Amino acid sequence: KQLSVIGVPMDLGQMRRGVDMGPSAIRYAGMIERLSQLKYDIEDLGDIEIPRPAQEANPKQDNLRNLNEIAEGTERLAEKVDQVVEGGRFPLVLGGDHSIAMGTLAGISKHYDNLGVIWYDAHGDLNTGDSSPSGNIHGMPLAVSLGIGHEKLTNIYGHEPKIKPENVIIIGARSLDEGERVLIKEKGIKVYTMHEVDRMGMTKVMEEAVDYLKDRTDGVHLSLDLDGLDPNEAPGVGTPVLGGLSYRESHLAMEMLFQSEMITSAEFVEVNPILDEKNKTATLAVGLMGSLFGESLK
Ligand code: ARG
Ligand code: MN
Ligand code: MN
Ligand code: MN
Repeated sequence: KQLSVIGVPMDLGQMRRGVDMGPSAIRYAGMIERLSQLKYDIEDLGDIEIPRPAQEANPKQDNLRNLNEIAEGTERLAEKVDQVVEGGRFPLVLGGDHSIAMGTLAGISKHYDNLGVIWYDAHGDLNTGDSSPSGNIHGMPLAVSLGIGHEKLTNIYGHEPKIKPENVIIIGARSLDEGERVLIKEKGIKVYTMHEVDRMGMTKVMEEAVDYLKDRTDGVHLSLDLDGLDPNEAPGVGTPVLGGLSYRESHLAMEMLFQSEMITSAEFVEVNPILDEKNKTATLAVGLMGSLFGESLK
């Protein structure tokens, strides 16, 4: 496989500075070396340029903080990702806060009729400006990709919707806002909350997830928010939620995705080295990439 790495130093989708250094932290944790050992042809395309926030009194229009800057940055990302897929390579995107998924999915989805998405996250990221308790756009990218939200976002890279609700699976959810719950019901989105993971075990969850997506999709994107894992494993995130997925469950999940041979793109987001403990969370992310790309099963 040929991998192209794209860094996205985006921190405008939430309030805590430092997540823009996520790509550096992940590279510093040895990602390129680690994946090169797996005999991948890997190229690092560097970082996407992200606009500065519009001064101190940045107007929060429609409960969407930094709307214009985020739309601009994710549009650039979409174009880059599109080129990578066009060239037959696997895009591996490094965040940055989760708002970047709007750009990643915008670029990838051009190439698929039924793109599947595995959203590995403590959150649903299914808010809109109307439902969001925070006005933070990193809590909205899944809704936006489904075509729900402000048109400046849903129309990134000029087509919508990017994905269909029946092709989405959320894993690890344990913090869903009221509007997100309504949307999940209304759209019939498949969700494995921590309750299901505890009851069924990760093996069964992933078997079901892979079976479900295999029949209906022509490619599958993994969007992995490090806060899906327990804060004990991943302390370097801006919105930690107790009771998360374990280190071992997460490696198992990545290994099963490798074996499924269905993942066609991936992104690892929300790594914030300022909040981290000696780069533990970035190191974890690199380890998970190792498993996703077949490290322990070769
Ligand atoms: N649901 C909350 C919000 O809308 C938290 C979102 C957290 N999202 C994330 N990608 N970490 O503000
Ligand atoms: Mn194209
Ligand atoms: Mn999250
Ligand atoms: Mn998220």
